[in-house]
This record gives sequence, C-alpha cells and structure tokens, in this order.
Amino acid sequence: MNLILLGPPGAGKGTQAKRMSAEWGLAHVSTGDILRDAAKKGTPLGLKAKPLMDLGQLVPDEVVNGIIEEWLKGPDAQKGFVLDGFPRTLPQAEALEKALSTAGMKLDAVLSFDVPEGTLVERISGRRSCPKCGSVYHVVEHPPARSGFCDKDGEALIQRDDDTAEKVKERNRVYEQKTAPLKAFYGEKGLLKAVAGVGTPEGIFAEIRRVLGKA
Ligand code: AP5
Repeated sequence: MNLILLGPPGAGKGTQAKRMSAEWGLAHVSTGDILRDAAKKGTPLGLKAKPLMDLGQLVPDEVVNGIIEEWLKGPDAQKGFVLDGFPRTLPQAEALEKALSTAGMKLDAVLSFDVPEGTLVERISGRRSCPKCGSVYHVVEHPPARSGFCDKDGEALIQRDDDTAEKVKERNRVYEQKTAPLKAFYGEKGLLKAVAGVGTPEGIFAEIRRVLGKA
C-alpha cells in the first residue's frame, strides 16, 4: 500500500505515519525529518535547507524531488510507503507521479487531515522531540515518564526551531497557499480521503483504518 498524508503543521501526520508503519510494515518517509537530520549534520543539503526551514518557507522543489526520486529507487520503496510531508506543491505532486510511473508503482490513497486551527496551535506548542532517536512527545497529551527526557534513551528533549508562534503562522500560510490545492489535485483522481484529525491518536488511527477499508 502506497499512501500520502496531507495536513497542516501539527495535524498529526508524523504521529499517524509512525503508527501505520508499525502496524502495516510500511516505510515512513518524512521529508521534514530527512531535512532536519541533514541540517543537524551540516551536509550541503542541510546547509541549503536550514535557513528556509527556520523561516517557515519550503525548500525548493528540485531539492526535495531529488530526495524522493532517489528513495523510490531503493529497496524500502518496494514494501509500501507512507509519505509524510511530501508532496507539498503541485510541481512536487507532478514529479512524484512521473517517478512512480517510471518505477511501475502507483498511489493507493491520499489521506487529508482536517484539524481546527486552535488544536493545531496547542499540539505544536506542546510538542517536544528527542534529538537522538526522533521520538515525539506532547507535554500534556503524550508526556514522557520523566519530564523533559526521552523514554527510550534518556536524552534531553528539545523544541523544534520552527515551532514558535510566529513561524507556525508562516508555515500555516504557506500550507494554505501551496499545499492545500493538492486536495483538489488528488480529489480529481479519486484518491483523496478525508480524515477527521481530532480526538485521541488511537481514535484517529481507527478512523484511518475505516477510510482505507482496513477496519
Ligand atoms: P515537517 O517536518 O514536515 O513539518 P509539518 O508539515 O509542518 O508538520 P509537523 O511535523 O509540524 O506536524 P505533524 O502533522 O507531523 O504533527 P505531529 O504528528 O508531530 O516540515 C518542516 C519543514 O521542512 C517545512 O516547513 C519545510 O521548510 C521543510 N519541508 C519538509 N518537507 C518539504 C517538502 N516536501 N517541500 C519543501 N519543503 C519541505 O503532531 C504534533 C504534536 O501533536 C506532537 O506533539 C504530537 O505528540 C501531538 N499529537 C499528535 N496527534 C495528537 C492527537 N490526536 N491528540 C493529541 N496530541 C496529538
């Protein structure tokens, strides 16, 4: 099964993608995680991406397209995948179509998360993540056992650089302008499935099962 998750910042894409990967054995590909990792390591990709991410702007299409096109040629793509944060623009969606067709693959569904803005802000302001293993927590909804430290490796948790109120506002603006039009793009292809992204992560996963006919 090959899936795309669409949704604004804080919609729960990463949370649900990890669950889908664990339950169904799908590869979880997060362009945000790939770019943050590159930025942390100071690679040429990271040096290019970091200033844009810090402004809440998108990294150029050709850069992220290249990452996904390469990944699709690798062995993990064959087991099925969930794309989290890609595509984010029309040119990215068109590049993905082309790359999938070249690889003889197709999309099964595009899940679009609908979440009220107030909930998005609460989720993002409370998010903390582990810089070592990437585990994601929420200070209220999903706190670690020891406040401020990762349950898995004991590392001190951090807040993402782009999770300030001002940057989230810009990320939301960019989402509405550049990414939200993809709903119509995939709707016309009969692939779009709306998911009510409110409630517990378990409840939302049950909804995902339902819309995919895997209940
Ligand atoms: P990216 O990392 O993809 O960020 P995003 O799309 O803004 O999404 P988030 O990671 O903020 O949110 P999420 O929906 O995954 O929510 P999460 O599950 O963590 O991209 C970052 C940047 O990279 C971009 O701004 C851009 O610069 C660049 N970039 C990436 N991809 C690109 C591309 N294709 N093209 C160009 N540039 C690109 O949940 C949020 C919080 O809520 C967590 O704390 C979680 O624990 C909590 N939570 C989740 N679900 C629930 C629930 N049901 N109830 C209560 N709490 C919940």
